[in-house]
Amino acid sequence: MESPKWLGKCPACNQWNSFVEQLASPRGNKLAGHRQSPVQPVTEVNLEDEERFGTGIVELDRVLGGGVVPGSVILVGGDPGIGKSTLLLQAAWEISSASGQVLYVSGEESARQIAMRAKRLGVMHKNLLLFTETAMEAIEAQIVGYQPRLVIIDSIQTIFKSDLPMTPGSLGQVRECTGHLMRLAKEQNISIVLVGHVTKEGSLAGPRILEHIVDVVLYLEGERHHAFRILRSAKNRFGSTNEIGIFEMGGQGLQAVVNPSEVLLAERSEDAAGSVVVAILEGTRPVLLEVQALVSSTVFGNPRRLTTGLDHNRVAMLLAVLEKRAGLHVNNFDAFVNVAGGVRIQETGADMGIALAIASSLKNKPVVPKTMVVGEIGLTGEVRRVAQIQRRLLEAEKLGFNKAIIPYSNYREYVEEKKIDVIGVRNISEAMEAVLGGG
Ligand code: TYD
Ligand code: MG
Repeated sequence: MESPKWLGKCPACNQWNSFVEQLASPRGNKLAGHRQSPVQPVTEVNLEDEERFGTGIVELDRVLGGGVVPGSVILVGGDPGIGKSTLLLQAAWEISSASGQVLYVSGEESARQIAMRAKRLGVMHKNLLLFTETAMEAIEAQIVGYQPRLVIIDSIQTIFKSDLPMTPGSLGQVRECTGHLMRLAKEQNISIVLVGHVTKEGSLAGPRILEHIVDVVLYLEGERHHAFRILRSAKNRFGSTNEIGIFEMGGQGLQAVVNPSEVLLAERSEDAAGSVVVAILEGTRPVLLEVQALVSSTVFGNPRRLTTGLDHNRVAMLLAVLEKRAGLHVNNFDAFVNVAGGVRIQETGADMGIALAIASSLKNKPVVPKTMVVGEIGLTGEVRRVAQIQRRLLEAEKLGFNKAIIPYSNYREYVEEKKIDVIGVRNISEAMEAVLGGG
């Protein structure tokens, strides 16, 4: 119960010293330093573009929607070891040499480790300031003191506020620290990048719980043992979330990949059964990828289904459609399906390519060479239309493909002059006929 004055004994339960002092609602104090924005007609709001500054990394700027908005908080998430620190160190250097001081706060590596990496990458600059610290109060003091152009916190899971009882990395600390940095960024009009490790379980005090707090959320993805990295935006208060950046990890850190299709298809052997090239849209960019399937008799027990870079359930559904609608007996076979190059495909436009790769492996027959495939597959085996067919066909054409299997509904809308032999199919059986022939 509550009492407005000091009490030694509770009048309700007659217990001594059971009353705890609670300070009056802190709301009044909080509002004291708070700048209130006026109520205004929607017509009066300033619509001019926010000023932004570039990071010097074209792919990163593209994903950000044209650069960093001052005062914004950007979360960069990804698996440990994927290259977050590398990317941000490279960006920090570009910004520090072009537009001012960057404060790189590290709670994970020593200043010496970071400096050695910077030296190896050739990204040394006196405006790039290193600060190894994990206490929020100390970090805040330096941010306010230095007024850098950009602050990088690597990682948010190592930072703690000493007035909170929780350990660093715990849900409460991570959330409170992020909220604190968010207010600081707005007050000081300084942009802050937070690095957040995604744990294998996906959520545990990870970036996911921060998504709704920060302004921009980027994820760096890829298979650790492959060189490709894709930078995606999951949320952007200042731009679209459509664009992606494609990088390759090498001796010189992360380098932009200008022609992803070419690089990703470089190692493909055309006449192998089970290999199909699909055209996927990554943001607004079409990318050609190789889907591979290996189908072999199940030795005993249940057939195994393993996928890499693809949605497991989607592949299971496509196997069922092949069995039921195309009369392919896949049920007694193990199926391994993957995307070459360690890239992940999320788009259902890859369905037809996946199904054809499985069919090709089962029949041990390679698909017609120089053929690109795109189309979504429904449960009745029908092939459904995909968006932006023109861009996908152009990309295939550019890479020397001379045949494309596309949904019939797309074929009808596709009117441009064809340099490439385009075949529209209505269902999975027609698609099999077109690329594998009879039998
Ligand atoms: P890092 O940026 O430390 O990952 P994160 O911050 O996401 O945990 O990247 C670590 C990996 O990248 C490490 O395995 C080594 C590799 N790497 C390169 O291959 N080339 C390079 O130039 C650098 C700096 C790192
Ligand atoms: Mg790191």
